[in-house]
Amino acid sequence: MVSSSKEIKDELFSRKLRKYGNERGAVIPLLQAAQEIYSYVPKEVISMISEATKIPQSSIYGVVTFYKQFRLKPVGKHIIKVCQGTACHVNGANEIMKAVEEHLNVKEDENTDDGLFTLQSVACLGCCSLSPAVMIDDETYGKLTPDSIRGILDSYRKNEGEKK
Ligand code: FES
Repeated sequence: MVSSSKEIKDELFSRKLRKYGNERGAVIPLLQAAQEIYSYVPKEVISMISEATKIPQSSIYGVVTFYKQFRLKPVGKHIIKVCQGTACHVNGANEIMKAVEEHLNVKEDENTDDGLFTLQSVACLGCCSLSPAVMIDDETYGKLTPDSIRGILDSYRKNEGEKK
């Protein structure tokens, strides 16, 4: 029988839960594991962690919302991180952000309607000499202009179209 990817993810998370569920201080490692597996923290996971650790769900939500690394919503297939560090800011990060927002019809921390992209802004990506810079998944793009970022986004869309 072929398992769906949801079943595989659920099984992976259940294993983590069995491994760490009874330990004190398990909440953050479990949330990190959930985020790694699902790429966000689903509601059911919070209730599973609450049950295993006997910590109220409200406290777990408190942890999730305190740490910026955790997301409560699913993300798009590609994550776009627009650098807002000083060098990028000076070199036009705002125009790059605006170009992405308009081109994809999306706002910061939202997903595009087709689920292909999630837009985020981040502090320095560590490649200031390439400012303004954007990272899409693990790929860094530098010395961008509004035109060049639009072209890059189009190439992602085109690739996705060809895969279908
Ligand atoms: S400020 Fe953008 S990469 Fe450093």
